[in-house]
Amino acid sequence: MNIKTVGIVGCGLMGSGISEVLAKNGYNVIVREVNDDFLNKGIERIRASTQKAVDRGKLSAAERQQALERITPTTKLEELAPCDYVIEAAIENLNLKKDIFERLDNITRPDVILASNTSSLSIAEMASKTKKPEKVLGMHFFNPVPVMPLLEMVRSFMTSEETYQTSRALGESLGKQIIVAKDYPGFIVNALLVPFQLDAIRFYENGMASIEDIDKGVRLGLNHPMGPLELCDFVGIDTVLYIADEVYAETKDPRYAAPPLLRRMVAAGHHGRKSGKGFYKHSK
Ligand code: CAA
Repeated sequence: MNIKTVGIVGCGLMGSGISEVLAKNGYNVIVREVNDDFLNKGIERIRASTQKAVDRGKLSAAERQQALERITPTTKLEELAPCDYVIEAAIENLNLKKDIFERLDNITRPDVILASNTSSLSIAEMASKTKKPEKVLGMHFFNPVPVMPLLEMVRSFMTSEETYQTSRALGESLGKQIIVAKDYPGFIVNALLVPFQLDAIRFYENGMASIEDIDKGVRLGLNHPMGPLELCDFVGIDTVLYIADEVYAETKDPRYAAPPLLRRMVAAGHHGRKSGKGFYKHSK
């Protein structure tokens, strides 16, 4: 399959990062957000990130310009009609994603693969809203997308070998290293990460150690770039809770039961970096 134009649904942290990586690698991108405000913020994030890449010597100014010109922003899902491949990166809400897949199935050509960047939700459920479940799979990128080398591919029990191979080739053309997971809640990485983050929150909640010492222990003792609580702030505390709740709802595995502090922080709007407050204070 000859993929020239890729549609991205959502221009938040993940959608903008995926759009940036595709455009830098020569693909035309049509990226859709729900309104002009979110769209402008997403495009501004791509401009800033590609400028950082130029400043760090990872990209020339001319390559940056070409990449930016390959990106077409829109607020209309219908404008993804000419796309050869689509990656959905909307918020983590299964009903919303199912609705998007149903609409994309009608908007795009029948041969077009529809992928989701979901971090934990069921690919089969999204696929079931389309007439071509064999052409649906998970393409889970990691934040920050331009920097993180991993792409976690998720095959549902209906995903065809051809869909998998075409998508794998697309991921490799972006310079990503690939791992393959079954369509099981949390896949590989979040299934491991979330219990670790929840344990760190419980340690702090129970007064066993300070936030700083938990993070320092993991940074210096295990050589992780960030401690688990710093990572909660980085990923978004609301996102951590969302994934934990989703995996718990499907598996009833107590390792994913959210500690009360996590739920209270989310209710209070302490969502981490994006809200300025989380386990740490952040300048927005
Ligand atoms: N474009 C291209 N390259 C960039 C860049 C950009 N916009 N920004 C930074 N870089 C490059 C830098 O040039 C540097 O490259 P070299 O090592 O070759 O010099 C490298 O990326 C690191 O950049 P920085 O020095 O600015 O950043 P840092 O060393 O402080 O690291 C970090 C920042 C990469 C975020 C690091 O702290 C880290 O890896 N944190 C953990 C991130 C993580 O775990 N992410 C996964 C979250 S989970 C998830 O996403 C899945 C989910 O479903 C929730």
